[in-house]
Amino acid sequence: MCGIVGYTGEKQAAPILLDGLKRLEYRGYDSAGLAVRDGRALAEVVKATGKLYHLADKTDMGRSLPGTCGIGHTRWATHGDPSLVNAHPHVSGNCSGSGSGKVESDVVGVHNGIIENYGELKEKLMRHGYRFYSDTDTEVVVKLVDYYYKKYKIGPVDAITRTMVRVRGSYALALMFKDYPDEIFAARKDSPLIIGTAENAAFLASDVPAILKYTRSVYYIGNLQVARLSPGSVKCYDLNGDEITLPLTEITWDAEAAEKGGYEHFMLKEIHEQPAAVRDTLNSLVRNGKIDLTSSGITDDMLLSLSQIIITACGSAWHVGMAAQYVIEDMAGVPVRVELASEFRYRSLPMDRSTLVIVISQSGETADSLAALRLAKEKGAETLAVVNVVGSTIAREADHVLYTLAGPEIAVATTKAYSAQLIALDALAVQMAMVKGTASAEQYGHLIEEMASIPEKIARVLEDKERLQWFSSKIANAHDIFFIGRGLDYAISLEGSLKMKEISYIHSEAYAAGELKHGTISLIEKNTLVIGVLTQSRMIEKTVSNMAECKSRGAYLMGITTNGDFSVEDSVNFTVYIPRTDEHFVSSLAVVPLQLLGYYTSVNRGLDVDKPRNLAKSVTVE
Ligand code: AGP
Repeated sequence: MCGIVGYTGEKQAAPILLDGLKRLEYRGYDSAGLAVRDGRALAEVVKATGKLYHLADKTDMGRSLPGTCGIGHTRWATHGDPSLVNAHPHVSGNCSGSGSGKVESDVVGVHNGIIENYGELKEKLMRHGYRFYSDTDTEVVVKLVDYYYKKYKIGPVDAITRTMVRVRGSYALALMFKDYPDEIFAARKDSPLIIGTAENAAFLASDVPAILKYTRSVYYIGNLQVARLSPGSVKCYDLNGDEITLPLTEITWDAEAAEKGGYEHFMLKEIHEQPAAVRDTLNSLVRNGKIDLTSSGITDDMLLSLSQIIITACGSAWHVGMAAQYVIEDMAGVPVRVELASEFRYRSLPMDRSTLVIVISQSGETADSLAALRLAKEKGAETLAVVNVVGSTIAREADHVLYTLAGPEIAVATTKAYSAQLIALDALAVQMAMVKGTASAEQYGHLIEEMASIPEKIARVLEDKERLQWFSSKIANAHDIFFIGRGLDYAISLEGSLKMKEISYIHSEAYAAGELKHGTISLIEKNTLVIGVLTQSRMIEKTVSNMAECKSRGAYLMGITTNGDFSVEDSVNFTVYIPRTDEHFVSSLAVVPLQLLGYYTSVNRGLDVDKPRNLAKSVTVE
């Protein structure tokens, strides 16, 4: 996610803004920028790609940017590649170049979030004479504020509230107006934003760490609210433009805890960000109740012409492919192979233009997955990258790209990116089913509604985390854990096993439940933990009987199943229930208890959850 900071007061703004952005680096970014105004003079905008020190160097640690009012931004690209021209701040004027330098524009702004209807708004503004220099949704929203500011001539709060009524999506906005040289205006919907106040100064930031050094007194601005910051004064307004009073909160966190949003580890924070990651990713692929893959470049004709799909990836991304295989084949009847990228790259798999090779990668930089992509292109296959990092190597080299909108993932063990990838592939499968006629219009609509219900259902699963925390304390000394399931449940078992072993260092294996009796069951001893994923109704009974075979050899059983399926409870020692949903999508729910189990087990063992030994977040070597 992007990072936003703002300051107005008696001190020089730029050094304070740079310091604040540094404390937001953990949020991930690919470029940064500042806009500072020195009294009535024109605002000056400076941007830099890459790490923050480039921006600091460009501004001599802020000293070359005089002025006591300013805003700053670190950009995590969602719309438009990481580049100088797409870096924030953005301006309302029809400027050339990247919008840097001394700007005449009436409005200068930064934004964290996703404006879903930015395309239609851009067209509207172009009809009114606006010209655009960037590919960002942010430039659109800054120009829309300017449009209303000039059209109604009432003032910044009015222009902002009119904009809020018009845009769809999420935003935390910080805006400066030429006619209000020592003030900053802010607005929020769904994206985080806090307002700090101190003697003769006011601050704003995406997150507490950016301003803790200067003040612990903050206002948590609510959704669809506007704030007006001037030196030592903060006024807030509702969507009608009426002034409202917000409670002043004293922050008690220390800086490190604040970076994790109050969670003990980034992994737990990211587990809890999954509803938003799934919602944002799905919303980016659904328009007016239909799936719209236009942004990826994949067309319905292409989907219709496919003879086979090969999914290739590593680690958890490969597990997403294993789940997607079942969903795509069952929904659309297209043959799907899933290959480990480290194996695929040495295979001679037949493929041609009617083959779609899907490369799944959170980082977009995994060496084996990149090599697999290059091989697929050499062999003439159509390639689609499903990645989380805009402008990453795999994203740039694939024929088509479908971005997940999970935001930066800090913990080495992936969770929210995995879930975002899962829903993205589900959406692709549903679109294929509609195009190939294997789903009726009614079924198509129902499937989309079911996917849209997943975020709220994940949130409900998260409410049960204390039971998993309790259970994990009982298995902290386990030596071997087995995860089993059939079909999609097997695919989820793979992810559950990886989560467990990579952060708790307990040996675990995932097994197709029907495969146990072909050798592995000899490993089952007294108190060996066997975890059964039991969500695919037509296969539950068989897997439960496999678990019973393990129990008869001394195993301790945990089952994950959907609400109402009480038959499982009588067969296992510990049951976790998840909400019912279409069984194609239930993986998104079943994986959450397994993520939590791995997390709490690692915590109980006193391990470094976010940075497990021997592992890197992105494996850019073979
Ligand atoms: C997942 O928890 C692991 N960190 C690892 O398996 C990861 O999924 C794998 O290295 C692939 O990374 P990518 O998605 O960035 O390509």
